[in-house]
Amino acid sequence: MANIIDGKAIAAVIRAEVAAEAAALTVQGVTPGLAVILVGEDPASCTYVRNKQKACLEAGLYAEQINMPATTTQEELLAKVEELNARTDIHGILCQLPLPRHLDDKAVIAAISPDKDVDAFHAANVGHIMIGDHRFLPCTPAGVMELIHRAGVTVEGKECVVIGRSNIVGKPMAMLLLHENGTVTICHSRTKGLADICRRADILVAAVGKPKFVTADMVKPGAVVIDVGMDRDENGKLCGDVDYAAVEPIAGAITPVPGGVGPMTIAMLLKNTITAARMQNGL
Ligand code: GUN
Repeated sequence: MANIIDGKAIAAVIRAEVAAEAAALTVQGVTPGLAVILVGEDPASCTYVRNKQKACLEAGLYAEQINMPATTTQEELLAKVEELNARTDIHGILCQLPLPRHLDDKAVIAAISPDKDVDAFHAANVGHIMIGDHRFLPCTPAGVMELIHRAGVTVEGKECVVIGRSNIVGKPMAMLLLHENGTVTICHSRTKGLADICRRADILVAAVGKPKFVTADMVKPGAVVIDVGMDRDENGKLCGDVDYAAVEPIAGAITPVPGGVGPMTIAMLLKNTITAARMQNGL
């Protein structure tokens, strides 16, 4: 029986801490403000953005959702980013990904002021993370680290395996584990002997985007298993990248889906917005 890492409860604690900080900043005349740009009407993105907006308002932050049509041009989107870069009441800017195919997400990320880049996707912030000198940490990997810490797990000297190499999760995840002195392996679609490598892991992070990809034979007994996936199973039910029913009896600790990593991503976004508001006001 694994220790079930309750991301929902841990995120609630962090959100309460953020709310206290937001209230203190507001007293000082600075209400932390986040702008979230949503281009088009992808249903999953609409849900994510709605949840981000709701969490901001609940924590006493200012939140502005900018809905742009799927036909938005690159120039229009960049002009919107520039407008938000210039606003003093907006401290964080997030452009929800993926963008419609005709838009260049790299150019949009590059246009966001690094000081307002609460996703930590801008090359300048990625560089800061790489050299261990960060201002913002990317929300999902930072949320995973928080879950690992609050579950009482130390990373130092552990075999860590990350499945997935995206810029949003896999790559920064590996870097954060490395900074805490884990021995880190990144696996991906071309990795040979994936199950054998995963089975070596003391800490296994699944960020592949494939439902129930991690099966019991890929998990070392007692391992900490972190599931970043938000997938749908064969019946259309929400599930993760880990076959939870099969892996839970083997793992030492495991995150459920929903209620694991997902709520942490939003909590860390709020934290980054607070950090941004402080930085921009010299507080
Ligand atoms: N799409 C999926 N996850 C994320 C995220 O963390 N940030 C942004 N901007 N888009 C996403």
